[in-house]
Amino acid sequence: MKNLITGAAGCIGSELAEALVARGQDVIGVDNLSSGKMEHLATVLGKSNFRFVEADLEEPSAMDRVIQGVNMVWHLAANPDVKFSEGDETNKDLRQNTLCTYNVLEAMRRNGTRKLAFSSTSAVYGLSKLQPIPEEAAFPHPISLYGATKLGCEALISAFQNLFGMQCWIFRFANIVGPKVRKRGRTVIGDFILKLRQDPRKLPILGDGKQAKSYLLSEECVEAMLFVVEHARAPVNIYNLGCDDSLEVTAIAGMVAEAMGLRGVEYEFAGGDGGWPGDVARFCLDVSAINRLGWKARHNSAEAVSRAIRSTLAAMNEAAGAGALPACKP
Ligand SMILES: NC(=O)c1ccc[n+]([C@@H]2O[C@H](COP(=O)([O-])OP(=O)(O)OC[C@H]3O[C@@H](n4cnc5c(N)ncnc54)[C@H](O)[C@@H]3O)[C@@H](O)[C@H]2O)c1
Repeated sequence: MKNLITGAAGCIGSELAEALVARGQDVIGVDNLSSGKMEHLATVLGKSNFRFVEADLEEPSAMDRVIQGVNMVWHLAANPDVKFSEGDETNKDLRQNTLCTYNVLEAMRRNGTRKLAFSSTSAVYGLSKLQPIPEEAAFPHPISLYGATKLGCEALISAFQNLFGMQCWIFRFANIVGPKVRKRGRTVIGDFILKLRQDPRKLPILGDGKQAKSYLLSEECVEAMLFVVEHARAPVNIYNLGCDDSLEVTAIAGMVAEAMGLRGVEYEFAGGDGGWPGDVARFCLDVSAINRLGWKARHNSAEAVSRAIRSTLAAMNEAAGAGALPACKP
């Protein structure tokens, strides 16, 4: 089996590369290193069944350099930053999500590669009235450019599947947390750690702190993707990927402060319902479909976040030991 992972130097892509290489499968990892890092691939670089190619998928011919002989594409490359800020280009997600997905699909079509797994997102649902949200929620209305363009990717994948006889697995991820820290597009855990390092007495929190989301460990995310690809056999398979509860942002702030040995931290709430324009402030996914298929998350949101805080602090301290960052206390 020859696999191609786009976004292989990313937080999730690198863990997927490690899992496939450990299974003895051949893996080509492609990444433009815009938010991913070569350090994330330390465990697979040098292995005989892994090859890394630096390439930008916005370039239509980039895939042609790597697709020959590939049976299965795991397309994870994307703009990881869900937040839209004043002054951002409005076509950033369109280029990095939808256009790159089109380039991947078109290269697959030309090469005769038929299997694709895609990292979509729970952001496609927007403000769903149904909670927990099932995969077949009535037509989703995303409220962010990130969510809208990911939904566009899903639509393109569905059309390519139908027209060109492909088989596809679409994963709508909850918030995925783990030990790795991106170059850009901070997650809530990394954000709180960095802010508390700057000022251990005060923590600015976006929104009103009541945002509540579902969290899943990156290692379990990879495990679930591999499980679903192995067991779901429809032409297009769409699965929510997460656990069955959610966790408030203020609870995460308390967990980070405690893990850093800090007491009496004052929270400064920015106010407002969501953390940023387009933020889905509260959601919970219906994960009964993946549970019925035979996979269930081993950790709930609080356990996943707690483990991710500890592993992130350990990874940051290790990087500090190597001189890249100031060390965390204690
Ligand atoms: N982490 C989460 O909570 C979460 C939630 C929902 C969906 N997702 C999706 O999962 C996937 C992986 O996310 P992640 O958290 O590992 O993010 P990440 O930023 O660590 O990984 C994305 C990788 O894609 C690469 N990349 C981006 N644009 C590229 C391009 N044009 N050409 C080549 N490489 C490119 C980046 O350098 C990075 O290594 C993404 O598609 C993301 O949208 C993640």
